[in-house]
Amino acid sequence: MGLYSKHIFPRLMEGGLKSDLHRRYRRRVLSRAKGEVLEVGFGTGLNLECYPASVRRVTGIDPAAVLERRVRARIARAPFPVERMIHDAANRLPFPDEHFDTVTSTWTLCSIERLGDALGELRRVLRPSGEFLFLEHGRNEKGWVSRLQDTLNPIQNRIACGCNINRKIDTEIEHGGFRIIELDRFAMPGVPRALGSVYLGVAGQESGTRPAVPERAPP
Ligand SMILES: C[S@@+](CC[C@H](N)C(=O)[O-])C[C@H]1O[C@@H](n2cnc3c(N)ncnc32)[C@H](O)[C@@H]1O
Repeated sequence: MGLYSKHIFPRLMEGGLKSDLHRRYRRRVLSRAKGEVLEVGFGTGLNLECYPASVRRVTGIDPAAVLERRVRARIARAPFPVERMIHDAANRLPFPDEHFDTVTSTWTLCSIERLGDALGELRRVLRPSGEFLFLEHGRNEKGWVSRLQDTLNPIQNRIACGCNINRKIDTEIEHGGFRIIELDRFAMPGVPRALGSVYLGVAGQESGTRPAVPERAPP
């Protein structure tokens, strides 16, 4: 890991993801979390303060360990045990089938290189009745924005350590074998459309139809 990806980018990333608005979205999506939780893309532990009392334990996986002091302080403050593992979600996860009640991902599916493999593993370790809670940015439906996203993506990928801004997150989740149960699509206020097209929702294991949801404009 170079100086930029170990020290500079993590600070920029954290600075961009810890506003009150981000926290409000985190709380909203994580409000359904319960029991044994697997968090993919644990990052610097910003979600820990946003989990509800129904959570028994959080296991966080991430291939990178950055800003260690802050992360340790957040783990120490959590009201439940937190286990952290350095692990790429696209590789086989060291957990038995159907182990977790909830899987969570916030602003992470954009960065996972072999996303299909990772989603397959997340499904494997989630109980049949469990829920996958996601809060992500991704592809905008508007033609000109998505074209801009395709144009800017190679640059974003480079400067943001593997982040893609043009993934159609709901389709990716479905291709991974999940069923979308709830989905909210909105533009994050104050964020350029190319970066702030949000997918917030819940996916489950069972098959079925899903709601068609257009993106809402910022309030
Ligand atoms: C934009 S950060 C978001 C961090 C955190 N989820 C949050 O909401 O603050 C994306 C995270 O995904 C992690 N990541 C990238 N590739 C991954 C992979 N293959 N498996 C698990 N996590 C991954 C990165 O290391 C980084 O911590």
